[in-house]
Amino acid sequence: MQTRKSPHPITSWTARDIPRDSRVLLRIDANVPLVNGRVSPNGLHRLFSVMPEIHRLQSRGARIVLIAHLGDPKGKRNEALSLKPVARALSRVLDYPIRFIAQGVSDDAARVIDRMAPGAIVMLENLRFNPGEEKNSADFAKRLAALGDVYVNNAFGVCHRKHASLVAATKYLPHFAGELVVREVRALSLAPKSPSVLILGGAKIATKISLIKNLGPHVDAILVGGATALTMLKADIGSLPIDAAEFTKPKDVAVAKAIAKTFGKKIFLPCDVVVTKDIVPDIGPSTIAAFCSAIAQAKYIIWNGPMGITTRSDGTAGTHAIAQAIAKNTKAITIIGGGETVECLEDLCLTDSFAHVSTGGGAMLTFLSGDVMPALEVLV
Ligand code: 3PG
Repeated sequence: MQTRKSPHPITSWTARDIPRDSRVLLRIDANVPLVNGRVSPNGLHRLFSVMPEIHRLQSRGARIVLIAHLGDPKGKRNEALSLKPVARALSRVLDYPIRFIAQGVSDDAARVIDRMAPGAIVMLENLRFNPGEEKNSADFAKRLAALGDVYVNNAFGVCHRKHASLVAATKYLPHFAGELVVREVRALSLAPKSPSVLILGGAKIATKISLIKNLGPHVDAILVGGATALTMLKADIGSLPIDAAEFTKPKDVAVAKAIAKTFGKKIFLPCDVVVTKDIVPDIGPSTIAAFCSAIAQAKYIIWNGPMGITTRSDGTAGTHAIAQAIAKNTKAITIIGGGETVECLEDLCLTDSFAHVSTGGGAMLTFLSGDVMPALEVLV
């Protein structure tokens, strides 16, 4: 299978890079949804994706220091965003003990890490409790780096961020990509095979413009659902069955018109939608049938963003039907990503039915848009 020219020719570490007993700082994306203080079952995909790298490092006799963020605590301690329940869930997924270090980057952490046995795992508290993390602070990165001998980035979902644990830390330690980052980069760089379909949904057209511009020329059809479709429908037909002011701002409609002008014949908008009071929770049955028929014939399918408002019971039919249609097309290369989209796959127990389910939401969009991925650039 050919790949599009990737700006990130990344390879992972090899055995000689990780001497036995090394303290390995392993940056993971453990930003998963919590419900009542516990990891939601449909957030488990990210945690399962971390397992192979942990096992690989354990087989090297590494002492593993997991570093991650949760939510957006804005540089302050916030118990509701503690990684403690995530450490517990990951430990259950791995069936292996993980010691949680509530003090985060600290002398206490250094003492615990020094006493770790080969193969043991600790997890530090939410990196974003420290203001230095999001500022890409050299000082915070140095203190973090002092806790390890080697740094491995396995957090593809955060590689679009220029944060201390992703960028600055690499200045102070030998640094490598983990296998998940390499797998994501390879899958998202595959050249579309004709007939190819890009499926886009989700809320805001602004977040999809670069992606459409970058990937649009390489695919045969672009199927649009979600609120993105409302903006494009407004640009196309001028009026909508509801007000939808939030999604039909003149600036966004102008963008939609420009996209339609460039990719006109490739773009397929909903021919019907579900209308409930003053909202459009989903695409309609004729649209579902038309989209599923295009999906059934495709040899390459890439999908980001739900077709409707999947938190509502009348907003899931489109997304579920699309997921099932893609899963049924076993001949196609199927690549899916985006937080809400993947949560729907978890609900349907379908995450194993695709060639690649990306752990990236914003990171997947940034990568496919051809935009800068600061944390990948430092790994090349
Ligand atoms: C994600 O959930 O997409 C990643 O963990 C990045 O999180 P962020 O958008 O809070 O940086």
